[in-house]
Amino acid sequence: MNAFTYKNNELFADDVSVKKLAKEYGTPLYIYSRTHMRDQYAKLVEAMAEVDPLICFSVKANSNLAVIKTFVDLGGGLDIVSGGELFRALRAGADPSKIVYAGVGKTVEEIEYALKENILFFTVESEGEARRISECAVRLGTTGRIAFRVNPDVDPKTHKYISTGKKENKFGLDIARATQAYADAANMPNIEISGMHLHIGSQILSSAPFGEALERVRDLCMDLKGKHESFKYLDIGGGIGIKYEPEHEALAPEAYAATVVPLLKELGLKVVLEPGRSMVGNAGVLVSEVQYVKDNPFKKFVVIDAGMNDLVRPALYQAYHEIIAVDESVTEKVFGDLVGPICESGDFLAANRELPAVKPGELVAALSSGAYGYTMASTYNSRPRPAEIMVDGDKAFVISKRETLQDIIKNEISLEEVI
Ligand SMILES: Cc1ncc(COP(=O)(O)O)c(C=O)c1O
Repeated sequence: MNAFTYKNNELFADDVSVKKLAKEYGTPLYIYSRTHMRDQYAKLVEAMAEVDPLICFSVKANSNLAVIKTFVDLGGGLDIVSGGELFRALRAGADPSKIVYAGVGKTVEEIEYALKENILFFTVESEGEARRISECAVRLGTTGRIAFRVNPDVDPKTHKYISTGKKENKFGLDIARATQAYADAANMPNIEISGMHLHIGSQILSSAPFGEALERVRDLCMDLKGKHESFKYLDIGGGIGIKYEPEHEALAPEAYAATVVPLLKELGLKVVLEPGRSMVGNAGVLVSEVQYVKDNPFKKFVVIDAGMNDLVRPALYQAYHEIIAVDESVTEKVFGDLVGPICESGDFLAANRELPAVKPGELVAALSSGAYGYTMASTYNSRPRPAEIMVDGDKAFVISKRETLQDIIKNEISLEEVI
């Protein structure tokens, strides 16, 4: 189901008018459809039913408490990457025994926090991290359950910033090194070898790289399963790509499942998935108001009140977001850039594109903004971050208030106070 559709020439989120929300809560404004999130989750459950995976929503994609709670209520687990995300997960009522913890730079404090909360396992990125988890577990008198992240060196054919399973990436250990790391970790005190972790990248539109990655780790998995009774989990990460550009097709859960399920069944381990983008990306839009339309001899610029601080993906990795007018009757097009108010030439949501010919005061929506949108937002140029609204059918809830000017300076201390 498409969560954002026109009804009577007006864009709706489920059954709620986007224009009305913008009027009530101001712009820029993130709007999410809870129905779409639930649908995406259900589709993945159905496609993967044969292996009955634990689906751990990747909190980094959208870490709003209400979004996390939506997946927790569906019975899902969570994939976290920091102490902050663990805090959010617990606040949202997550069951720690369904939380997996990734990331190359876990600090002692973060590891101890996760050990005390008794999470399912750490996905471990280096030998040093395994040693640190062991030391922390000894100190706390508990056990650190670990799954080494194996870097299978496959090309997921995605943007280089979101490719994580190639040998030049900082993530995980190559197969030879992982083999040794497992052997060493088995002798570390208070460590339990729980399984293996893979995550080859994000926004992957073909199932082939997932299959290739699984084939590469198959032998090591079978070997470890034979050696360690506790080796029960194979966490294959996230990465399922979504539709951003009109001419692209998302990687359908059925196509993903058709490739990975046979390989997973053969391994006979408990499967963990960490989808982020595919759960929430197309559940969200960023709505903004046009401020000015200006020309120079070379180009037209549509200046809106959302900037790269609100949605950084286009500036960060030339990401494409489809831009539509909230009023469907704007059918005319202009060619140019959709830019924000930030003092950077990289501050655009769309560049050199055909855009709706919107006028000052009119609204545009950047589609597919539900993942890595608000979570990457900043207050650069001292711009308060937008509000977030969750729509569920005909109801709309504010799930985070618009930041105020006071909010953005609340941790700062003026010189008069410290001198
Ligand atoms: C370890 C890990 N798991 C899961 C994800 C989620 O990926 P996606 O949003 O592409 O599904 C990421 C994203 O960077 C990740 O690093």
